Amino acid sequence: MKLFIDTADINEIREANKIGVLDGVTTNPTLAARTGRDFKSVAAEILREVDGPVSLEVLSLDTAGMVREARETAKLGDNVVVKIPMTVDGLKAVRELDADDVKTNVTLVFSASQAVLAAKAGATYVSPFVGRLDDISEDGMALVEQIIRIYENYGYDSEVIVASIRNPMHFVKAALIGADVCTLPFSVIKQLSQHPLTDIGMARFLEDWKKVPK
Ligand code: G3P
Repeated sequence: MKLFIDTADINEIREANKIGVLDGVTTNPTLAARTGRDFKSVAAEILREVDGPVSLEVLSLDTAGMVREARETAKLGDNVVVKIPMTVDGLKAVRELDADDVKTNVTLVFSASQAVLAAKAGATYVSPFVGRLDDISEDGMALVEQIIRIYENYGYDSEVIVASIRNPMHFVKAALIGADVCTLPFSVIKQLSQHPLTDIGMARFLEDWKKVPK
């Protein structure tokens, strides 16, 4: 399973990159706003830092506007993936962009029917938001299971990015289900490596080492 970081914060991206497990980056307008910086320079920095796919979102609501923005955005680098909202206009834009070999990530996916349409339109990636479904007492990971089963049934090529991750169990369940990608906030990436028994074990080893005759 590929691991993406879900942030626009270049420092978090650099830190995650140093660990050596980072396969790509996803951003969105909320994450861009959190940086408090001009997003063009932020995007350029991210693209310099990361070789893998970097999702950058369009803001137009109509197909023509989305396609225009997407083509401009795609010029920023070979690894740019254009994030397109899951709307009818978005699907039309994905179809056009796919014909031009512009990679797309259909975002704000909350149902299996939306995921089927995105795949049929030619989306490179499809992003179900599991945390936001859990937040309203639905089962986000059950949706991921449905999408993967449907994609397998019909051999759709779109890769599933499990997004809106809230905790390490979302990551583990995504891996068990066989999702292509998980995109995680930096806080959750750090949690993945932690276990109290690892810390206790290390402390005990260091204590015992003091008793070894030197
Ligand atoms: O990648 C989409 C993700 O950023 C949404 O996360 O936590 O705002 O639901 P969240």
